[in-house]
Amino acid sequence: MSVKERFDLTGKVALVTGGSRGIGRAIAVGLAEHGADVAMVYRSAEAEAASAAEAVRKLGRRAWTYKQDLAETDKLACLAQRAWNDCGRIDILVNNAGMAYLERFEEITPEHWRRVLAVNLDAVFFLTQSISRRMVEAGIKGRIINLSSKNGFVAEAGLAHYNASKGGVELLTQSLAIELGPFGITVNTIAPGIIETEIGGEFDLDPAFFDYYKEHIPLEHRFGSVEDCVGAAVFLASRAGAYMTGQHLIIDGGVLCEQVPRMQFMPASKLRRE
Ligand SMILES: NC(=O)c1ccc[n+]([C@@H]2O[C@H](COP(=O)([O-])OP(=O)(O)OC[C@H]3O[C@@H](n4cnc5c(N)ncnc54)[C@H](O)[C@@H]3O)[C@@H](O)[C@H]2O)c1
Repeated sequence: MSVKERFDLTGKVALVTGGSRGIGRAIAVGLAEHGADVAMVYRSAEAEAASAAEAVRKLGRRAWTYKQDLAETDKLACLAQRAWNDCGRIDILVNNAGMAYLERFEEITPEHWRRVLAVNLDAVFFLTQSISRRMVEAGIKGRIINLSSKNGFVAEAGLAHYNASKGGVELLTQSLAIELGPFGITVNTIAPGIIETEIGGEFDLDPAFFDYYKEHIPLEHRFGSVEDCVGAAVFLASRAGAYMTGQHLIIDGGVLCEQVPRMQFMPASKLRRE
């Protein structure tokens, strides 16, 4: 089989949570470009979801949309059932939807703690449980791709609930890789650094933070774009990624490579920037 054929997703069906915008939309369209039909779950933005579905259909693929607040854990089995019935099968589950609040640890209310954990971790668990059960019954060697974060590895101030949820996603992914491996189902994460989307839109951070942050991103001192995440998803969803499970692909411009950034304190004599 050629390398090109290994990346071909023709005949596959993907379910992408949070597929209406940001990284989820880019992944949904990227999977469709490689041949997959795509179902998308969104919380409230109907027009955004319709536009994402239209982008998939323009590529000649089928698209479905489901409105569901993923924090409603008890409705996820029903969501999985509906999507499976409509689509006929699901080969690829992308647990992408996620949210965050920026607030100090001592200010986090039980409501905020529960909501972040419900959307970012509980929904990943319960949706994967419902979908993988059907994959096993149907003999589908499926792919589960979870959106984690660099915060699943290293914490960041003001995000205790988010950090905990993403750390949980990493270990959940390893756990499920072990238990679903015998059925030929792979489970991996994509762990982005800062990607330019709407997720931090309400953080109200000092703009100086972003310049400071960029200075510490080794790769071109730039934030990532949603397109930077698509190739990893296509790889993990396809036959090209068939022997990889329980792993993470960190897409952060190299920011996690260094413990305490030292570049700006390097002696001028040691810095050769030709
Ligand atoms: N953008 C980044 O810098 C970054 C970095 C690391 C990880 N991530 C992760 O990538 C994933 C996608 O984030 P994004 O940056 O595209 O964010 P985004 O805010 O642009 O999109 C988030 C998506 O999740 C959906 N969503 C949120 N809460 C939901 C709920 N309760 N029910 C149903 N859907 C819900 C939204 O509708 C939206 O489609 C998230 O899991 C996020 O944690 C993002």
